[in-house]
Amino acid sequence: MKAVSVSDYRQLARRRLPHFLFEYIDGGSHSEVTLRRNIDDLEAIALRQRVLRDVSTLDLTTDLFGSKLSLPIVLAPVGLAGLNARRGEVQAARAAEAAGVPFCLSTVSACSLEEVRRGVTHPFWFQLYMIRDRGFMRDLLAQAAAAHCSALVFTVDMPVPGTRYRDLRSGLAGAPGLIGAARRTGQALLRPRWTWDVGVCGRPHTLGNVAPVLGNDTGLEDFFAWMRGNFDPTVTWDDLEWVRSHWAGPLILKGILDASDARHAADLGASGIVVSNHGGRQLDGAPSTARALPAIVAAVGDRLTILADGGVRSGLDVVRMLALGAKGVLIGRAWAYALAARGEAGVSHMLELMAAEMRVTMSLTGCMRISDVTRDILAQEL
Ligand SMILES: Cc1cc2nc3c(=O)[nH]c(=O)nc-3n(C[C@H](O)[C@H](O)[C@H](O)COP(=O)(O)O)c2cc1C
Repeated sequence: MKAVSVSDYRQLARRRLPHFLFEYIDGGSHSEVTLRRNIDDLEAIALRQRVLRDVSTLDLTTDLFGSKLSLPIVLAPVGLAGLNARRGEVQAARAAEAAGVPFCLSTVSACSLEEVRRGVTHPFWFQLYMIRDRGFMRDLLAQAAAAHCSALVFTVDMPVPGTRYRDLRSGLAGAPGLIGAARRTGQALLRPRWTWDVGVCGRPHTLGNVAPVLGNDTGLEDFFAWMRGNFDPTVTWDDLEWVRSHWAGPLILKGILDASDARHAADLGASGIVVSNHGGRQLDGAPSTARALPAIVAAVGDRLTILADGGVRSGLDVVRMLALGAKGVLIGRAWAYALAARGEAGVSHMLELMAAEMRVTMSLTGCMRISDVTRDILAQEL
């Protein structure tokens, strides 16, 4: 099947990945209400069709935190993405670099900071979770600085992991040791291409950044047990100072959905925020990011850089998020599906599709530059 859209890449990923991995990427928390809202609310945003403006020359470039990007898009941190294709995060980071957009590596990636650094020539971003062991965090931040990461994304919407039924049903999480492993092996054997590419040639299977504490030969259930035991639920605004004191570059808080939290982030001197509900994987029933974004922009848009994610499945959706006030847009599942389907080439192609869709949308709304994409092009206010 030839992919011409992110939804095609989703279908390809479903065919290519073992069931438990596809469900892990595709799913949300609880009844997946917020996951659906992210997509539906964004899709429902109507744009003003404008005509008879010269749109022969479009400029999609933008500046974020002192760097020039070809597109206002960032590859969001996606944990375990390296299992979607052989040494997957390196492939995705290369595709992002070629497209001129930042790649953000998750704390819980398969490839380590150092492995990704060796695979690219430009700086990438690093995402941090609050871990109980501050010494471990300090080391991670030092590694991120040594790898020349150009921004730190500190994720604040996961003091505890959300309840994800799909992972419990698929055998990814919750099944006791051997039973879970047997179920996952059975699912992998039904996907021989993945088993060869990732299972055999993609070794070692470690969680790159966590390997120093978790060990080199860990199963997925060890990983989830580590997450439950080590993510720090005591994290508060006071810890931001600690993170700040160990990181000199731009600091972006990810997982803000409320205007008063956004004000707090601005008061504490964050460089930016990502308006996000973790792609509907944490608090189910939370509003979509498309709904939450305008109030946050009104509250702090002039004080820090506002990025947003959640439900973005096309270049049209990117333009919608920008029109709601975001300065840049993170995409999560879109790149994870494309990576699973066709590796680096898939992520590159998906980014080309997004850029092409952005061009058409900007042309038909009469926007020549990214700075022209404002709430003015919304057909109605949310
Ligand atoms: C499979 C998966 C794993 C994720 N892992 C992380 C992570 O490790 N750290 C993080 O901050 N966000 C993580 N996220 C959330 C994404 O960074 C992003 O907020 C979300 O995917 C955006 O929604 P979208 O998938 O609809 O684009 C993950 C999302 C998915 C789908």
